[in-house]
Amino acid sequence: MTRIAVLGAGKIGEALLAGLLAAGQPAGDLLFTERHPERARELTARHGVAAVGVPEAAARSEVLVVAVKPQDIDPLLAELTAALKPGTLVVSLCAGLPTSLYEQVLPAGTPVVRVMPNTPMLVGEAMSAVSGGTHATDEHLAAVEKMLGSVGRVVRLPESQQDAVTALSGSGPAYFFFLVEAMIDAGILLGLPRAVAAELIVQSAYGAAVMMRESGDHPVILREAVTSPAGTTIAAVRELERHGVRAALLAAIEAARDRSVELGKR
Ligand SMILES: NC(=O)c1ccc[n+]([C@@H]2O[C@H](COP(=O)([O-])OP(=O)(O)OC[C@H]3O[C@@H](n4cnc5c(N)ncnc54)[C@H](OP(=O)(O)O)[C@@H]3O)[C@@H](O)[C@H]2O)c1
Repeated sequence: MTRIAVLGAGKIGEALLAGLLAAGQPAGDLLFTERHPERARELTARHGVAAVGVPEAAARSEVLVVAVKPQDIDPLLAELTAALKPGTLVVSLCAGLPTSLYEQVLPAGTPVVRVMPNTPMLVGEAMSAVSGGTHATDEHLAAVEKMLGSVGRVVRLPESQQDAVTALSGSGPAYFFFLVEAMIDAGILLGLPRAVAAELIVQSAYGAAVMMRESGDHPVILREAVTSPAGTTIAAVRELERHGVRAALLAAIEAARDRSVELGKR
């Protein structure tokens, strides 16, 4: 039996707990820690998972998933260092924090796996990238891939690519929300009721996502298929190019990568 404890059950931590439960992990094999007793009680009522302190989570679990904000890591690491059993696998979901940060502080030889997930984990559609630290074996990585596979898709990448992953898929859902918000505004501009514009755009986004994932076709092919000569789509594409939308996306994602690098520097 592998008991998993989630340290910091906020948005991502709760999404992971919910996803693991939905995938069949018994509630008795899960634990979580949380700073606010009221939120802890709420989570236990919602999911049937017990809230414990960090020392108890460390004593009773084989896998510890760190899901606090990067700026809250120091006090948590201090507590963990005192409590960690040898061989416990530490999985970090924290944006920008390298495995070396954990390895410097935790007992020598502690296996650490760094993960960049995203919030569609809430609906079982996360995109996660995993990278092993110095002491993480293939078995450790496979265990983490299995855990995250129950809440979405997973790729294994060198840790040097994690800042790029953070910028692309970690923050990625926010870019799509931004785009959808702007397209709904366009519907309002054209005189459609807000609810109708939202339904048209959200379903179009969903349909386009399913087409891209299921056909495996390059987005250019899919876009060309709906871009007829002298038609409406090409008129819109010309405006997107004229306003530098492609360049804006390149610059935005580069800025997100730079911020991830900055967060990792301490
Ligand atoms: N949200 C995303 O889109 C996303 C995507 C990829 C990765 N991540 C990563 O996931 C991590 C969590 O993000 P989030 O959005 O889920 O943040 P969040 O909602 O703020 O969740 C963090 C939770 O941890 C609690 N906490 C902090 N220190 C603690 C401690 N020492 N012991 C127990 N609980 C503690 C916080 O309590 P308080 O309320 O008291 O602060 C909060 O409930 C971050 O490191 C982030 O980089 C997030």
